[in-house]
Amino acid sequence: MNKGLFITFEGADGCGKTTQLMLLAKYLKQHNYEVIVTREPGAKGLGEKLRDILLNYDGDVSSRAELFLFLADRAQHMDVVIKPAVAAGKIVLCDRHTDSTVAYQGYGRGLDIERIKYLNVIATSGRKPDLTFVFDIDVETSMQRVGKDKDRMESAGDEFFNKVRNGYLAIAKQEPERVKVFDATKPIEEIFKEVVTAIKGFI
Ligand code: TYD
Repeated sequence: MNKGLFITFEGADGCGKTTQLMLLAKYLKQHNYEVIVTREPGAKGLGEKLRDILLNYDGDVSSRAELFLFLADRAQHMDVVIKPAVAAGKIVLCDRHTDSTVAYQGYGRGLDIERIKYLNVIATSGRKPDLTFVFDIDVETSMQRVGKDKDRMESAGDEFFNKVRNGYLAIAKQEPERVKVFDATKPIEEIFKEVVTAIKGFI
């Protein structure tokens, strides 16, 4: 049986991480790996309800309430989807995870970063991603790609997204072994080649 692997895809909205995730899923399946594609917030069941609140609720949501909703989603997702799949030897490709909370609620909203990291440990019972790909993008390009039809998070404004971007870059600097950064303004195929090179050391 293959060794299970947990890989996360991160970056600001519109960075193209989902496209890269789907390309990698296809590539790995072609190479006979068992792959699970999942996401946060809202993989399934309870998570879908939390996702709806997080992205579509139009009333007031305090930053701390938002934080705990993302964490609740993560705890459930970890227990019912990610851990069982990794234990069964599968490669889990997850669209957003713990680093999103550090970047968005920590750097973006300004909540205490060290405390968020600790809460992430509780939500995941300490299981970190084996590998994380961050797709770095400037705010202007990212907002152009998102377009006019923005959800609750995407409406947070340029200043917020600048902080999110800097947050991701800071995380990558702190954990260079786990976190690899790609220039998300390059052509899709070029980025994908770099993604494949990065993953080869792990599988
Ligand atoms: P989604 O539509 O999945 O966006 P994307 O396609 O860019 O991943 O929306 C998820 C939104 O939630 C996105 O704006 C990032 C945000 N988010 C947080 O703020 N904190 C988190 O912990 C997570 C997982 C996501």
